Amino acid sequence: MTPLLAIQDYRLAFDGFDGTAHVLDGIDLQLRAGDTLGVVGESGCGKSVLARSLLRLNPSPPARVVSGQIRFEAEDVLAMPPARLRALRGRRIAMIFQDPASHLNPLLSIGTQMEDAIRGQDGATGRSRPRHAARAHAAALLSAVGLGDAPRLLASHPHQLSGGMRQRVLIAMALAGDPALLVADEPTTALDVTVQAQVLALIAELVRARGLTLMLISHDLGVIAAACARTVVMYAGNIVEDAPTAALLARPLHPYTKGLLAAVPELDRPDIRPRGIPGGIPSLRAPPPGCRFHPRCDRATALCAAEKPALREAIPGRTVACHHAEA
Ligand SMILES: Nc1ncnc2c1ncn2[C@@H]1O[C@H](COP(=O)(O)OP(=O)(O)O)[C@@H](O)[C@H]1O
Ligand SMILES: [Mg+2]
Repeated sequence: MTPLLAIQDYRLAFDGFDGTAHVLDGIDLQLRAGDTLGVVGESGCGKSVLARSLLRLNPSPPARVVSGQIRFEAEDVLAMPPARLRALRGRRIAMIFQDPASHLNPLLSIGTQMEDAIRGQDGATGRSRPRHAARAHAAALLSAVGLGDAPRLLASHPHQLSGGMRQRVLIAMALAGDPALLVADEPTTALDVTVQAQVLALIAELVRARGLTLMLISHDLGVIAAACARTVVMYAGNIVEDAPTAALLARPLHPYTKGLLAAVPELDRPDIRPRGIPGGIPSLRAPPPGCRFHPRCDRATALCAAEKPALREAIPGRTVACHHAEA
C-alpha cells in the first residue's frame, strides 16, 4: 500500500544576508491513511517549517529546497503546478495553527469567512453552490465542532468569540474541503488549560469519526500523548526518534527523548524538579558536525562528532538516530 504521505531525505534551507540556515536536515517520514502522528521537539527545531513544507507554504526566497522529495497520495508535491497545489491546500490537506485570532479576518463575520472558505474549496474542485447552500454547510460544520446556535454565531465577528470558540471555527473551516490529512500546528498552545483539553478531545473525536489522518505538532508531549498513537521527536531539523507513543513514553531510546521526558514536570510531585536538558538548540547556520545533539549529550563520543547517525530500526517498529541508543 502506498503511504498517504512520504517524505524522503528532505532538506530545506533559508538563505539570509548573514548566512544560510540549514533548518530541515534530511527528513524521512511516512504516514499511512488513518495514522495519528505527533511531532514533538523544542521551539525552533523545525516543526512548523516541516508542516508548511507539506503545502509548500514556506516563502521562497528565503526558503530553498536543497534535496529530497515529498509525495502526497503518490503525487510529487515539490513539482506540483499551481492549480494542483491549490486543490491540495485545504481540500486534501487542511492546516490549523496556534493562534486562531490571526487566521480570522476581524472585519468579516464568521458566516462570510466560512462561506468564502467553502466556496473557495468548491472553486478548487470545479463545483459551484449557491450562497444559501454554503451557509447551510457552514452551520453543519459548526455543529460538527460542537458549536450550537449557528445563526447567531455566523452573524458574529471574531472578537465576539472566545479563543476556544475561534479555534473551533477554524477547525470547522479546515473540515470544509473534507481533507484526508489534518495538520494541527500547536492548535491548543494559545488556549487556557481547560479549553486546551476540550479542543484536543474535539480533534481526537473528529479524527476518529471522519477517519482523518492527523499530524499534530506540539512542544508538549502530554498534548501528543492524548491524541496520537505514534510520535516522532525532532531535534534541530532532524527526526531523532519515531515510535508508538506508548512505547516512546515507557522507554525512550534517544538521549534527547529521555531528556525531553525528564523535562516534563511531575504535576503530582512538586518536590521533584524537572531536570531538563542543559544548553539550548544549536545555531542552524553553523550546526555542530555529526549528530546535531552531540554537544548536549552525555553519551557523546568522538564518533558522534564525526558522523551523522542515520535513522535506523533499533527495535521492530521503532527507529532512532543515535550511535549509542540502547537497543
Ligand atoms: N521564513 C523564514 N525565514 C528564515 N528563517 C525561518 C523562516 N521560518 C522559519 N525559520 C527558521 O527555521 C527554524 C525552525 O523554525 P520553526 O519551524 O518555526 O520551529 P518550531 O515550529 O519547531 O518552533 C528557526 O530557526 C526559524 O528561525
Ligand atoms: Mg512552530
